[in-house]
Amino acid sequence: MPKIAVTRWIPEDAAKILADAGEVKLSAADRPLEPDELREFVAGSCAIVSMLHDRIDGDLADAAGPGLRIVANVAVGYDNVDVPALAERGVAVTNTPGVLTDATADLTLALILALTRRIGEGERLIRAREPWSFHLGFLLGSSLQGKTLGIVGLGQIGQAVARRAAAFGLRVVYTGRSRAASEFEFLPLEELLRTSDIVSLHCPLTPQTRHLIDAVALRTMKRGAYLVNTTRGPVVDETALADALEARAIAGAALDVFEREPEVESRLLGRENVVLTPHLGSATIETRTAMAVLAAMNVAAVLGGDRPLTEVRP
Ligand code: GLV
Ligand code: GLV
Repeated sequence: MPKIAVTRWIPEDAAKILADAGEVKLSAADRPLEPDELREFVAGSCAIVSMLHDRIDGDLADAAGPGLRIVANVAVGYDNVDVPALAERGVAVTNTPGVLTDATADLTLALILALTRRIGEGERLIRAREPWSFHLGFLLGSSLQGKTLGIVGLGQIGQAVARRAAAFGLRVVYTGRSRAASEFEFLPLEELLRTSDIVSLHCPLTPQTRHLIDAVALRTMKRGAYLVNTTRGPVVDETALADALEARAIAGAALDVFEREPEVESRLLGRENVVLTPHLGSATIETRTAMAVLAAMNVAAVLGGDRPLTEVRP
């Protein structure tokens, strides 16, 4: 039976598919494996089911050995995988597009609403047993209707966010590497940053998008604007973001992802106008099951001699 290394817990439905495809070895550690542990863990495996916190490169493929045929990353993003290095070694790489689009778009809207309606602040106030009473000026946020949402990266998730935002009465503009055939207006990044009331990031993390939102970009945004990041932490320069919030250069930020996960820039933690969630974009029972099942089906296909279903190409 071919060995399948699974680096972290996966839902039962996916585990069953893998058990039919080979001999499953599941990491017993309830945490990400350190690079050395990971190398040792994958030795001799034909397939690796990896998580977004696992660094999968040529060295790791060599540690797995010449039998390795597929790395199935249980995520749509694959910035943790060196795809060209694996292609050189004849190893297929797959991701999980499509199945997490709605969940991630839903969380993005939840963050936009939490930020603009100050839900975190209100929650903290009540839990701190602070006195309060309804009055016309109490904890006012800002309305979405008629405001402009600037989407950076109009891929599947960006489009799903755009559709939801339009239903809330937001005007949607977008920027990206290429113009999508879409009803929404394309703007160059600089102009999008200059004119948007909310900027939401949906581009993948690549060398080109690392620190796309840096000090200059944050200075370009309106003083009353909000930044939302549900893609990958390093798209935002977190130090520059903390500086911009301290200088009141923007009105607030909502982050589901962080530059050095699970660490969070400490200056963000004390700020009321920051909403923080621990990488929950795809975190519903249904979506996480669908992601893991898709990864398992990719493994089963490749070990069975078929083409993978959702292959990533270099
Ligand atoms: C989650 O962050 C993913 O890329 O699927
Ligand atoms: C608010 O609670 C209202 O009734 O307007």
